[in-house]
Amino acid sequence: MTIGIDKIGFATARYQLSMADLASARNTDPNKYSIGLMLDRLSIAPITEDIVTLGAAAAEKILTDEDKATIDMVIVASESSIDQSKAAAVFVHGLLGIQPFARSIEMKEACYSATAGLNYAKLYVSANPQSKVLVIASDIAKYGIKTSGEPTQGAGALAMLVTAQPRIIAFNDDNIAQTRDVMDFWRPNYSVTPFVQGMFSTKQYLDSLKTVWTEYQKRQNLSLEDFAAFCFHIPYPKLANKGLNKLMDKTLDDKVRAQLQEHFDSSIHYSRQVGNIYTGSLYLSFLSLLENAQSLQAGDRIGFFSYGSGAVSEIFSGNLVDGFKNMLGDSQQKELDQRKLISVPEYEMMFFEEADLDQDGNASFIDYDTHTFVLDSIVEHQRRYKRR
Ligand code: CAA
Repeated sequence: MTIGIDKIGFATARYQLSMADLASARNTDPNKYSIGLMLDRLSIAPITEDIVTLGAAAAEKILTDEDKATIDMVIVASESSIDQSKAAAVFVHGLLGIQPFARSIEMKEACYSATAGLNYAKLYVSANPQSKVLVIASDIAKYGIKTSGEPTQGAGALAMLVTAQPRIIAFNDDNIAQTRDVMDFWRPNYSVTPFVQGMFSTKQYLDSLKTVWTEYQKRQNLSLEDFAAFCFHIPYPKLANKGLNKLMDKTLDDKVRAQLQEHFDSSIHYSRQVGNIYTGSLYLSFLSLLENAQSLQAGDRIGFFSYGSGAVSEIFSGNLVDGFKNMLGDSQQKELDQRKLISVPEYEMMFFEEADLDQDGNASFIDYDTHTFVLDSIVEHQRRYKRR
């Protein structure tokens, strides 16, 4: 039995910030962002768009009524949670109208947790072949105004349906993970933005890649020649590009090198315009590859490098399934272009707005544009969502 991703969908916020505008406001050379980080635009989420609305919107794009009647587990992976206790997956389950006899949980380990979610889904389906598991990677990356991480913010969610006999990609049982206890990026409960040791975090990312890749090659007896493409966690595309270069040693055949680079360029196409979406960014790179690469074929092996600060990393692979192109919807480009361009002052006001709760825990919001669902109000400390 093969198990993997049967459907994949993406949703992002309805507002965007141009990196050139941000560079000008921060007295920075725009090339630092466009060439140095390889970023052109960022998605900006208003207060009424959160990991629940984005995650539900991404799932709503791909699920049929039959899927909703069959899904028996909903996993939301996130590091920008909206509640310390109640799982975002429970809200998502309700908004989507998924049948009641389902398990709904939230998972966390920085940008790594969606990979853990996919693993759990794979194990669950291997024991229950009729099951469908909805895995959602949803995050809003906020570093704060004028911080070094500010140009690498973003917002978005990926929804993936994991089933037996998948129609997009079948996972191989070749996962190699690594845990190392480091403080490169973390967010204590009392802080709305993370603490980051920026340069140290990039070193951890690249060194984790190197060590896990070495172990992966040793245990799986595979080399880069066996892969048609490699998808990376993308905090910003330039770091992932450095990651690819780390894998491609001098002995690599020129043709293989050119194909890997071409596919890599396709895989960063959306991230360049969305920014960092933490745990979803690896899977946005996969979707971007699927929708923008010209020469992918059924049977191609795709590698995945997942990295979550703290730090947990993992390399695994899957093979594209016959007919995978038929499972792709419209390109994401149209929606990305339709986002409303906002000025830097508008972004500063919108992105960092906090709920103005009264003494009874009630708050209402401006009617910002959101995707399919909206955080409508807070009533006695309870978040109230609705379909737009
Ligand atoms: N023209 C072209 N390029 C320019 C330039 C110009 N005028 N000015 C600078 N650059 C280049 C620099 O040479 C550099 O490129 P290289 O890395 O190839 O040398 C690049 O632009 C970045 O510039 P700096 O080195 O000056 O770095 P910075 O001050 O912009 O900070 C950062 C970079 C530390 C990564 C910062 O963006 C940050 O803190 N980001 C958040 C943390 C992060 O993303 N870490 C990644 C690993 S952790 C992880 O993966 C988990 C996660 O998602 C958070």
